[in-house]
Amino acid sequence: STLRTHGDGLDPALREELLAGAETQAQRLARLVDDLLTVARIEDGALRLDVQAIEADWLISQAIQVSRTADRVQADLGGVQTIRCDADQMVRVLTNLIDNARKYSPPDGPIFVTVTEGPSAISVSVRDEGPGIPKECRAEVFDRFKRLGEKPQKPGAGLGLYITRSLVEAHGGTIRVDEAPGGGADFTFTIPQTEGEQPVSADRPAATTTV
Ligand SMILES: Nc1ncnc2c1ncn2[C@@H]1O[C@H](COP(=O)(O)OP(=O)(O)OP(=O)(O)O)[C@@H](O)[C@H]1O
Ligand SMILES: [Mg+2]
Repeated sequence: STLRTHGDGLDPALREELLAGAETQAQRLARLVDDLLTVARIEDGALRLDVQAIEADWLISQAIQVSRTADRVQADLGGVQTIRCDADQMVRVLTNLIDNARKYSPPDGPIFVTVTEGPSAISVSVRDEGPGIPKECRAEVFDRFKRLGEKPQKPGAGLGLYITRSLVEAHGGTIRVDEAPGGGADFTFTIPQTEGEQPVSADRPAATTTV
């Protein structure tokens, strides 16, 4: 509102600062809406995956771009060229993990993204040098709205890891968090790569679901 009433006479630097602030807030809101929609889709079984062979390099560079971490991420693709996955959803999984590593570790700390290939699956680890996740919280961080630590907190809704796990599971995979050497967080997910084998779709979460 300062911008609206005094916009013309404002010091250019302050004007820039206010505009940048408004933009950040707008982006945050847009992301929250997007996350809430994704959660609704996941819970409604309305999530559809389009699984194709996607360039690993492209997936990671997209996630780095969205999370604005180009200066901090050190990626090691381990010779992996492509990953069979849904491109948009995999960018989202990587973005959520890299965004957390950025948000919860020291401002210039490195973020390591490591891809490894097994006989029929690919694993990706996102590791940071922050405080890590206490052992007793490692299961619950993936819960909806779960956030750790005391206030004041970094901005967020506690949806990122819930969405991340749901998307990994929709690919038929699993995700876990461990302690990195030196105490940081190390999130690793594994997704099967066998072509022909249908990924477990989020609209059929479990064989035990009764209608
Ligand atoms: N790399 C990490 N290091 C330390 N703590 C983490 C890390 N990643 C997640 N956490 C903890 O787990 C909580 C849940 O993470 P999640 O990504 O689900 O939510 P968020 O980052 O708080 O909000 P959102 O992702 O919805 O913007 C975080 O609030 C934080 O306390
Ligand atoms: Mg997050």
